[in-house]
Amino acid sequence: MKTPPSTHRGRSLIAALLVLLVLGAAGGAFAWYKFFREEAQPAWITDDPDMRFKYGSIGAERDAGIPYWIFYVLPRIFPDKLPGPGGYASFGVVWEEGQELPVGFSKKVVGFPRVANNCAACHTSSYRASADVAPVFVPTGPNHTLDLWAFFRFLIDCAKDPRFNADNLMAEIRLVTDLSFIDRMIYRFLIIPITRKTLLEREEQFAWLYRPDFPPWGRGRDDAMNLTKYFMIRWPMDDTLGPTDMPSLWNLKKYDPEKGMRMNFAGDSHDPFSVIIDSALGLLGAPPKNNDEFLEQVRWIQDYVSNKPAPKYPFPIDAARAEQGKAVFDANCAACHASSRTGTVVALAEVGTSRDRIDTWNEKAAREANAVVREMGIERPGLVEEPLTGYIAAFLDGIWLRAPYLHNGSVPTLRDLLEPPPQRPTAFWRGYDVYDPVRVGFVTSGAEAERIGTRHEVAAKGGGNEGHVFGTELPDEDKDVLLEYLKTL
Ligand code: HEC
Ligand code: HEC
Repeated sequence: MKTPPSTHRGRSLIAALLVLLVLGAAGGAFAWYKFFREEAQPAWITDDPDMRFKYGSIGAERDAGIPYWIFYVLPRIFPDKLPGPGGYASFGVVWEEGQELPVGFSKKVVGFPRVANNCAACHTSSYRASADVAPVFVPTGPNHTLDLWAFFRFLIDCAKDPRFNADNLMAEIRLVTDLSFIDRMIYRFLIIPITRKTLLEREEQFAWLYRPDFPPWGRGRDDAMNLTKYFMIRWPMDDTLGPTDMPSLWNLKKYDPEKGMRMNFAGDSHDPFSVIIDSALGLLGAPPKNNDEFLEQVRWIQDYVSNKPAPKYPFPIDAARAEQGKAVFDANCAACHASSRTGTVVALAEVGTSRDRIDTWNEKAAREANAVVREMGIERPGLVEEPLTGYIAAFLDGIWLRAPYLHNGSVPTLRDLLEPPPQRPTAFWRGYDVYDPVRVGFVTSGAEAERIGTRHEVAAKGGGNEGHVFGTELPDEDKDVLLEYLKTL
């Protein structure tokens, strides 16, 4: 029997729609699989707290990640843009033997393998007892070797170079892995151009890294509040520069916001929870995919860093002299470093150190940044909506591993900090990891320190070593025993 034309047309239309739907669903599933499916990281990372801190994903791969194979071949294609030989190692990243990626670099499949950063990139230390032994790694310690400034510039400079194109990158990728035909097409026509575009989009916000009138930050320093200003609230560039050392995160439970303590070097944040949220958002580069998962991650990190003890001084200590030193400490230092003032802001006029870091941030920036986080639906006490007036009287736990000293890392050793400012070194090399137990800090001169380190000039913007004159007029013998005591903290 002949089907009436209308019904026939109706049926084929339905069939066509069904086919399209199936194709669409398959296409959608395919796209989801190739670009968005998330695979859990391996158990050796997720099941061990130290490994999780060092290599675990905090969710930054999705929006801030770099496709793994691009990350892999960039140093091979652009060795001329690295600070020295040796690939990524030349940035002074902390790299454990046998690991595929440096500490602080997480690898996760979001559609395809991507690499991003976590807290450990800046918050893990390495040191060596002498030049001929293997390094010791301390997760939650300050990374004093990382040349973050050079790393940020490297990524932008690569993307700006005409050699960053699909032909070159695919040729190099083929030398190191066998991608399927489809994956090669995806890399060539989508991933490589999109990655290039994404990197170039950051160029404007990184403009202050290219200013000829600003010195490089140098190893182990980061201009954190300017990063927040230019990336989170997208302010136009101003004339401030305030690179600081990376702080230690160990034993974070010592901070008690109820006692008026504040976080960050200039006391610009209320509490650890807020700082961890803001740091993580900075790494994500976008609102979290899921706020509950994000906050669970934040709480895990907070628990980890709160309960990690400061590392013990690894060289011999003269206990009797340290005991004498404690008396010197109690008389000259405890009023700020072991009292109710510890962890609270000391006015700039009283401490007298460089003001550049304070000038990088202000009340209005805090209000705007808090609004950005609130709009994401995240509740936290947040950044302090008040003018910055000074620096936090630092807790001194594990102070031996926090060299160079002062918020901007302008004084190489504890012994130098006990000299009046005009007698402190005016230039030294930072980022070399061999320890100096005599002056208490890292070795900052000599051929190796110069080869590996970056030169810190105290006369350069953001580098000033003035202030903190406490204890500088003590007799030498008192300084020596005080130094012995500081090793015990
Ligand atoms: C790119 C380097 C970098 C990364 C990555 C980073 N931080 Fe930090 N962090 C810093 C610097 C630099 C400061 C000091 C900022 C200042 O006061 O100027 C800091 C400060 C802090 C503080 C305040 C410490 C104190 O004693 O006041 C905490 C807590 C902290 N970070 C936690 C984290 C956590 C958690 C992560 C990961 C979610 C993280 N950071 C990622 C560089 C980094
Ligand atoms: C009036 C309060 C005050 C007194 C007294 C004081 N300090 Fe400090 N100290 C501070 C402040 C504030 C900072 C942070 C300054 C900065 O980073 O710019 C600081 C920083 C430090 C740092 C550097 C911490 C780091 O992470 O780099 C050390 C070390 C230190 N003090 C040791 C001492 C010693 C030793 C004494 C005694 C001889 C002493 N301080 C006396 C307020 C004080």
